[in-house]
Amino acid sequence: MGEYSKETSVFQTYIIGIIILIIFYIIKRPRIGANEPPLVPYTIPILGHTYNYLFNTQKFLKECKEQYGECFSVYVFGYVVTVVSRGPLSEVLINREAFELDIFEILPFNMIFEHVGDFGKVAHINAKLAREKISANIEVYTPAIQKYIVEGIDKWIGDCKEPKEFRSIWSLTNNIIALPVANIMVGEEAASHEDVTKSLGDFAFDIGPLGAIPPIFSFIHPKLHEFVITLPLRFGWNPVARHRKIIINQIKPVIEKRIKEKKTLGKDYKPYFDALEYYMSQPDFDYSKLHHYVDALFVLTFGAIGTTSGSVTNGLFDMAGRPDCFNELYEEAMMIDKECNGSIGFADVQKMKKLDSFVKEVLRHSDDTLKRIHKVISESYTFSNGYTVPKGRRINLYVNDALKSKDFYGDDADEFKPFRFVNENSPATKVDRNYVVFGGGKHACPGRFFAIHEAKIICHKLILRYNIKTKSGKIENKTYLGPSTLPPRGSLIFENRK
Ligand code: HEM
Repeated sequence: MGEYSKETSVFQTYIIGIIILIIFYIIKRPRIGANEPPLVPYTIPILGHTYNYLFNTQKFLKECKEQYGECFSVYVFGYVVTVVSRGPLSEVLINREAFELDIFEILPFNMIFEHVGDFGKVAHINAKLAREKISANIEVYTPAIQKYIVEGIDKWIGDCKEPKEFRSIWSLTNNIIALPVANIMVGEEAASHEDVTKSLGDFAFDIGPLGAIPPIFSFIHPKLHEFVITLPLRFGWNPVARHRKIIINQIKPVIEKRIKEKKTLGKDYKPYFDALEYYMSQPDFDYSKLHHYVDALFVLTFGAIGTTSGSVTNGLFDMAGRPDCFNELYEEAMMIDKECNGSIGFADVQKMKKLDSFVKEVLRHSDDTLKRIHKVISESYTFSNGYTVPKGRRINLYVNDALKSKDFYGDDADEFKPFRFVNENSPATKVDRNYVVFGGGKHACPGRFFAIHEAKIICHKLILRYNIKTKSGKIENKTYLGPSTLPPRGSLIFENRK
């Protein structure tokens, strides 16, 4: 009798489990409306395309595009994502009233930068600051960028009479780049404190891991994933808190001094040339809300330092693994260095044609397959190919398809050709529908002129000073994380040029 009831209860549990799975499957089965981009068929219920999306991304999406065209949908982590390339991708970038970059999809920024308040307003102010104050004044900033980059190289790489091995290259370039950026953000006085540059450089690395958690709970409900990854924040842990405190401590006396100067000098007050001054010049600037401006500054530096240092890191690996390319860049650098006696100005950076082409090729080969999830914010949107996507639909940009377009870049589009753009009148800052590393349309990255300028200066100084090789002696691969990439993880060997 006992044996019989045990068997019955195992059987009942089994049946209940199957019923739950069936209900779950019915509830979660994607519903695709008429006229929507085709949903790529899948065989495993609930999981859908998640495995291929994570572990076979490039091949999987290439095959989908070949079969379904420039606009198709896949089912990953329990939700439908429409993948767009080429024409539809450009439409997403241009039609900002229909599509919005879904930054909260990457990280719960509203909780991390808890004092920002109105994100839309801060994004607008930061974009204006990057465009009108930072990128527009590169000429003025060039001496400072050069000075702090040289200082950073001395500090973080230094003398390499004997070959020196460096393991965490991204962290190394990030430390160097944080120096000029900190100076431009908070001014020379505050940036002279080591803890300030360290905080501005480090905080993106501190919050990054939160974004790397795969949204497995979204299989049940997207809100559940959001809830789980924000749990530590709900309990008061915030990786930014420590950095915020440091920055506030160091900028407070600087701001007080400037307010006093403004009062005493009146019209004769000469505004400082940094982001801090820009925030202070806002009509509603409120000294008692420094935490708000510091969080706004963090939002800007989050997009400014890690992106540039990641690209420079890729560039160092790309040149170190290709001795011929490295030598050609060295020849150009020597020529320019001779002309300017070692002190480069804005015009000298403009003359670095081979380096500019190299940087553009590095960015084109960042190898991220998909990037930047957008959301449909209008009632629906009909692409010019006739497909309609509904409000709330996640849209993922198939950037690697545009960046490796054979129609645009030629049959060798997949090859890394460092000097591809030298005679093409196509600088690394020029956005177009096939060069989407800086986005496009009216929200295209306004900091790109500054980023490329800075990247070229750091590469120029490193090329002149060191022989750089990969430890493996080979071209290193990027680190693939599903549809995204990070710079290679290998070591680089630096040795003084004789
Ligand atoms: C290699 C380095 C960089 C890359 C790859 C990069 C890439 C991007 C991309 C893809 C976007 C989104 C564009 C879109 O939605 O169409 C963007 C936006 C933005 N970037 Fe950059 N960026 C870099 C460096 C910088 C720097 C150095 C700054 C500041 C000095 C900066 C400031 C901004 C701002 C403020 C926005 C928002 C623009 C808006 O919403 O209108 N970026 N960036």
